[in-house]
Amino acid sequence: MSKKSPLVVANWKLNGGTDLIAASVASIRNLNFNARIGIAPPYVYISGLVNVLRNSSIMVGSQNISKFESGAFTGETSAQMLKEVGCDFCLIGHSERRQVFLENNQSCRTKVERALVAGVMPIVCIGENLQQYELGLTRDILYRQLHQTLDGLDLTGETLCIAYEPVWAIGTGKAASPEVVAEVHEFIYQELDAILGSAANEVNILYGGSVKKDNAAELLAINHVDGLLVGGASLDPEHFAQICAAANQVES
Ligand code: PGA
Repeated sequence: MSKKSPLVVANWKLNGGTDLIAASVASIRNLNFNARIGIAPPYVYISGLVNVLRNSSIMVGSQNISKFESGAFTGETSAQMLKEVGCDFCLIGHSERRQVFLENNQSCRTKVERALVAGVMPIVCIGENLQQYELGLTRDILYRQLHQTLDGLDLTGETLCIAYEPVWAIGTGKAASPEVVAEVHEFIYQELDAILGSAANEVNILYGGSVKKDNAAELLAINHVDGLLVGGASLDPEHFAQICAAANQVES
């Protein structure tokens, strides 16, 4: 089975700074990647990171974008602004945004539209919480997240990426089992096929939730796992470099 070139994205959340930028770039910039690598630092570090990574294929992204284009929206940052400072991608609808900042599928949909207009690749994060998982509602939740966010949008596979992050696996040290990941990624692929048709083949579907250097290769070997979204482990430059190296081994 041939796989698509994987995408590994570091989500630094509300962590990091100039020291982490220097250490992370030093540990990955000279690896010769088959995989695509991206880093999403806090907004204020984006320009600095873009600057350091000039002439490198490593991508830079944001962890969020505004659903507004411009105007009196104190504290917001638009997709257009992020494009202007060099962002290649943005995370949309991370579970922490959904839980803490009350984002929903409708606001995520607006953000995806903004990102597409600006030319910033949206990485749409979806996933069920523990209660939903235990009640067997995973498919229902993901179905709604995917369809309410994406149905009817003008999408091609290359402009979109999905990250499946079961909320119960984020930051817990317990990644979803390979069986669960395989089943859910197959389901996501089928739904993307229903939404996008053959363009679904171009969409990288990432797994996120307690990805570590020790489980990266196993996760990447699963059908329809086309990359990883890495939180905690991306704050350790050596560990992140090893995860990138695991992605590099995937035969495409
Ligand atoms: P984690 O976070 O790798 O620390 O579990 C992943 C994420 O929230 O994107």
